[in-house]
Amino acid sequence: MNRFIIEGGNRLHGKLNIPGAKNAVLPILAATILNRGISRIKNCPNLEDTKTMQEILISLGLHVENDKQDIVVYGENITANTIPESLAGKMRSSIVLMGAVLGRIGEIYISYPGGCAIGPRPIDMHLNSLRKMGAEIDDLYKGTLHCKAAKFKGTEILLDYPSVGATENTMLAACLAEGETIIRNAAKEPEIVDLQNFLQQMGVAVYGAGTGVIHITGKPIIKADVTYSVIPDRIVAGTYMACVAATGGEIVLSSIDYEPVSSIAYCLRNCGVSIETLNKKEVKVKSLQRLKAIEVIRTSPYPGFPTDLQPQLVAVLSKSSGTSVIIETVFENRYGYVEQLMRMGADITVRERVAVVKGVRKLTGAEVDACDLRGGAALAIAALIAEGTSTINHVMHIDRGYEALENSLASVGASIRRERSNSVS
Ligand code: EPZ
Repeated sequence: MNRFIIEGGNRLHGKLNIPGAKNAVLPILAATILNRGISRIKNCPNLEDTKTMQEILISLGLHVENDKQDIVVYGENITANTIPESLAGKMRSSIVLMGAVLGRIGEIYISYPGGCAIGPRPIDMHLNSLRKMGAEIDDLYKGTLHCKAAKFKGTEILLDYPSVGATENTMLAACLAEGETIIRNAAKEPEIVDLQNFLQQMGVAVYGAGTGVIHITGKPIIKADVTYSVIPDRIVAGTYMACVAATGGEIVLSSIDYEPVSSIAYCLRNCGVSIETLNKKEVKVKSLQRLKAIEVIRTSPYPGFPTDLQPQLVAVLSKSSGTSVIIETVFENRYGYVEQLMRMGADITVRERVAVVKGVRKLTGAEVDACDLRGGAALAIAALIAEGTSTINHVMHIDRGYEALENSLASVGASIRRERSNSVS
C-alpha cells in the first residue's frame, strides 16, 4: 500500500503543466479498435487506467506501442472477442469497448465494468442504445455479458439522461453502422467533443458533439493513419486550482483550456480567489485571504459544475468563513470521503445528496483513507491546509487519475512525499 505523508501549511507558488485528460484518452483508445490503420494518440497521461486500456487492446490482439506520452495502436488484426474480467473490472471505461468491438467484429464477452465506489453505476442506457441498434445481449453467469451484432443499424436514440459513457458507446457503435445514427439528449462534455474530433480524423462523418444532438453516418470500413493529441485534463486543472485556492499562494497553470474549467473558476472567484487567463493556454490562480463560503452549488452535467470536482470544492470550503451547501445531482453516493475529512476537524453534515459545510478555522493532520479517486484528491487538499502531519492511505485510488500527484504538488512548494510499502492492507 502506498501512502502520502503531507505536512500542512505551505503556500503554493510556481507553475504546473496540465496533462492529457484521462476521461478523453480512454474512449479515444477504445475508438482505435474501429480503425484498421495506425492510430497515434499523443499527450496520453501515464495513469493506471490508461495502462489497463492498453492491456485490453493487446488482449484483443491489437499491436500497441508506447513511446513516452504517445500510444500507437496498429489496428489491422483483432484476434479475440473476450475482455478479461481482471481488466474490465478495473475501470468503468471498459464498458465503452462494447460499441467499438461489436461494431468491428460483431461479438464480445465482457464483464460488468469496475471503477470508483461512488454509488450504483447502472449500464442500462448503454445496453438499451446498443440493443436499439441491433445488438443481442445476454447476461451470462457471474456478471458476464455476451453481445452479438452482425451489423449495427443506424437509428434515432433518445437517452434518458445525458450520460457521458452511454453517449460515447453509442457514438462508437454508430461509426461502422449502416446509415445514420442520431443521439438526442447526448452528453455535452468536452471529452465527447474530443472523441468526435478523433473520429473525424479517422474519416467518420460525425457532427453535433458539444450540443445535445449528435449525428453519425456509419462507414463500411475505417482504415486511416491518424495522429491525434488528447485535450488537457480539466479535472486535474480544477484540482490544482482548488489546491492553491485552499493553501494560498500563486500558481500559473499551463497547457490548459479555460472554458472547460470556467465553472470551478466561477465558484472559486466567488470565494475570493483571483483567476486570470494570461493567454489561450495559461491561467494564473492567486489566493491571499481566508475564503468565503458559497451559498449553494449544485453539480450537474457539462457545462454545469462537474461532479468530479465536488469533493475537492468541499475540501476548500471546509476552512472557509461561513456555511456552504453542496447538492450532488449526478451520482447517488459521492460523499464517502466526508467522514475522513471530519477526522481532520471538518464540520460537514450529509443528508442524502446534500452536504452542509460549516467552515472551521482549523483542520488538524490525521491518518485518513482515500476511498475513491476524487475523494482522495479532496483529502490531499485538506492535508495541505491542516495543521501538522497527515497520512493518506490507499493512494492507488488517487493514482488512477493523477500522475504522481506528490511530484506536481512538491514542485510548487507543498511538503508531500510518497511512502511505499509492500503490504496490501
Ligand atoms: C463519466 O462516467 C466519467 N468517467 C466520470 O468520471 C464522471 O464523473 C461522469 O462521466 C460524469 O461526468 C469517465 O469518463 C471514464 P455517466 P460515466 O454515464 O460515463 C447514471 C472520474 O472521477 N447512468 O454520465 O460512468 C449514472 O449512474 C469519473 O474521473 C445510468 O443510470 O458517467 C450516473 O448517476 C468518476 N445508466 C449518471 O447517469 C447508465 O446506463 C451519470 O453517469 C449510465 C449512467
